[in-house]
Amino acid sequence: MKKCRICGKPAEVFLISRNLALCRRDFVENFEKRVEKTINKFRMADRGEKILVAVSGGKDSLALLHVLKKLGYRVTGYHINLGIGQYSHESLKKVLDFQKKEGIEIIIENVKEEFGMGIGEISKLLRQPTCSICGTIKRYMFNRTAGSFDVIATGHNLDDEAATLMGNVLNWQIEYLARQYPVLESKNNLKKKIKPFVFMSEYETATYAFLEDIDYIVEECPYATGAKSIFYKGILNRVEDRMRGTKIHFLSGFFKQRGRFVSQEKRTELKPCIKCGYMTTSNICQFCRIKEKINNKKGGNHERNFLQNQ
Ligand code: AMP
Ligand code: FES
Ligand code: ZN
Repeated sequence: MKKCRICGKPAEVFLISRNLALCRRDFVENFEKRVEKTINKFRMADRGEKILVAVSGGKDSLALLHVLKKLGYRVTGYHINLGIGQYSHESLKKVLDFQKKEGIEIIIENVKEEFGMGIGEISKLLRQPTCSICGTIKRYMFNRTAGSFDVIATGHNLDDEAATLMGNVLNWQIEYLARQYPVLESKNNLKKKIKPFVFMSEYETATYAFLEDIDYIVEECPYATGAKSIFYKGILNRVEDRMRGTKIHFLSGFFKQRGRFVSQEKRTELKPCIKCGYMTTSNICQFCRIKEKINNKKGGNHERNFLQNQ
């Protein structure tokens, strides 16, 4: 039987990529120490700052809110109900149960209240890819809600970031590479963004959530089926099986080299949206444009129905 590397008691968690066997207690302690180390290394936040933690109801973001609170940071959760049928119902339920159990304030907003319909219907109506509409709306709402906060934290983990990096490299998306970093300083009226789980694997965050008794939604968003990121994750897992530590090497090596891409980043002038004041490259930001397009389409439909009824 394997023994815990730290205390010598029977090990229960085996971190193959780090060749490390730990008992429950030492895994939890080690996990929390590594999160703290990441926060300090990238100067993500200090204990006086107010952190808005974006929680989807999944393991990573709920574990993040839990661990930051446990480490003594000033945290508030933020959940967006995306209006994606059963998936959103279940996600909201997990978030509300978590809030009740942990006693942490969580702000909840609803896409249907904002646009009169959920993400799926918006994407169908505007004939635009669901995930890109969803990303635009989430980014905007994170920044808007983060008004009086210092930092926005998301639960992106090592597997997410390595898969994103793989996609960015395969397509040589230089501008995306320049912006892929665990901390993005605030710019104009966009808040500082941090990813404290950037070096924690999906296996580790799931194990931590399980050991800390966090109940989360296991299902993926129905629109994620067939997503490239899932395919890249599968490939990276196969490489990792053969060559331990590949994911962490790939990502941390990139962070050290990232300066090469930053200098090539296009410096686009941002100006305030004429409708809402959000910083954007054109006159009207993408969020307000989505609203406008929905209103135009709805207006068009009313007209058509009116004419058909004549
Ligand atoms: P995803 O893009 O779904 O992998 O999510 C990445 C991160 O974005 C999560 O770890 C959360 O921090 C945040 N996030 C995703 N969906 C939501 C949501 N509906 N409400 C609030 N935060 C979210
Ligand atoms: Fe945004 Fe699935 S979570 S489309
Ligand atoms: Zn706007």
